[in-house]
Amino acid sequence: MFAKKTYVERRRQLMKDVSKGLILIVGNSDSAFNYQANTYSFRQDSTFRYFFGYDLQGLVGVIDVESGDEYLFGEEVSMDDIIWTGPVPTLSERAKGIGVKHSGTIRELRALIDKAVFAGRKVHFVPQYRRENVEFVADLLHIDSEYIAAYVSVELIAACVKQRSIKSEEEIVEIEKAIATAYDMHTTMMHMASKTGTYEYQIAGTMEGIALAGGGPVSFPIILTTHGEILHGHDHSLKIKKGRMIVSDAGCENPAGYCSDITRSVPVGGKFDDRQRLIYQAVLDAQLLVFDLCKPNVKYSDIHKAAVQKLGEGLKSIGLMKGDIHEAVEQGAMGMFMPHGLGHMMGLDVHDMENYGENYVGYDKKNVRSTQFGLASLRLGRELKSGFVLTDEPGCYFVPALIDQWKAEKKCSSFINYKEVEKFKDFGGIRIEDDVLITLNGCRLLGKPIPKTIDEIETEMSR
Ligand code: GLY
Ligand code: MN
Ligand code: MN
Repeated sequence: MFAKKTYVERRRQLMKDVSKGLILIVGNSDSAFNYQANTYSFRQDSTFRYFFGYDLQGLVGVIDVESGDEYLFGEEVSMDDIIWTGPVPTLSERAKGIGVKHSGTIRELRALIDKAVFAGRKVHFVPQYRRENVEFVADLLHIDSEYIAAYVSVELIAACVKQRSIKSEEEIVEIEKAIATAYDMHTTMMHMASKTGTYEYQIAGTMEGIALAGGGPVSFPIILTTHGEILHGHDHSLKIKKGRMIVSDAGCENPAGYCSDITRSVPVGGKFDDRQRLIYQAVLDAQLLVFDLCKPNVKYSDIHKAAVQKLGEGLKSIGLMKGDIHEAVEQGAMGMFMPHGLGHMMGLDVHDMENYGENYVGYDKKNVRSTQFGLASLRLGRELKSGFVLTDEPGCYFVPALIDQWKAEKKCSSFINYKEVEKFKDFGGIRIEDDVLITLNGCRLLGKPIPKTIDEIETEMSR
């Protein structure tokens, strides 16, 4: 946790940005895995953690915007709790630890919310993504849980997004710690992938163990696959074989809750073959271009387009594309090779704040999400600001079913050389991802550079 001052200042800013009423921020509780006492690993809600700090179950924060009163609610621990799970500070001690004056039980929370609701005051809350919290909030506010989305506060979402989008120095330090662990995860993957005969799950499992040994869980289920064309390839059942690329997309959360999200793609056995070398370099050139373009006031959707254009030019030089590549991008031809977005914000969540709704985070009134296949999947399209942390993750994939469909429809056939693309149907995919900080006049790669060029990867894999 950061010092008390950080949480006090964050809540003070929130009070300034929300006009009136109460702000209700519900922390997470344990969720049952297969029976009540056997739970999933606890994951705190990121909004709660951002404003109230604690990585503990069953807490609720309330801020009265008009009176300035702040509250931390929960249940006092019982002797039974202490016996089974160990001692924790009292609620009032915890409240004091984050500069909150009032504390109380959940029954007292209900009384406070009742009083506000019956006085006609607005109670602001952000979208809830866990069923138990949907029911809890609906019950507190006396609304039908089926219609809870209609009561979500867009004003509160905007206030949270405004603060959380700009990372402070102390947050950057934590993100870089998470990337340091990701460095170990991915270089270990490279060493393991240099030997054929290993199973994907052995590599993925070892990487997950490194995340845990770094003090936190993985930031999302590891994507580790020799079928990189399956974008979220969570199946790790295959034995790795020469001739395949491994796409390894993995990161962790550090003990402070901040994430990393890194992808490296490497050839099984440790040496790129000619085809792999060509596609890899095309993706890498696109990924590197992003560092030249990222700076405040540039739209990330324009950088996405520039990156896919660079990728398209690379594919043209290989013979997979033809014609005017700028026009190909405009007409959506690149969606065939890269059906996902260039990147997203990252912070306490790997897709930061995605529970608020992607468009509230990545778009605004001036920058509306495209409906074009590929670009429509871009989570961050708006103008960049100094302090944003985002991912730069272009990729190139050969999805046999998509190739068949587009070819049959003759889609973008003046730009895509289907005869050549057919030969790559057994290729798989490649993605390269780093985490980037937008600075006052440019950007910087976060963390120690992880081997990325063809030479660097081959050297690392030979160690
Ligand atoms: N982990 C999925 C992504 O890179 O966004
Ligand atoms: Mn990723
Ligand atoms: Mn990512």
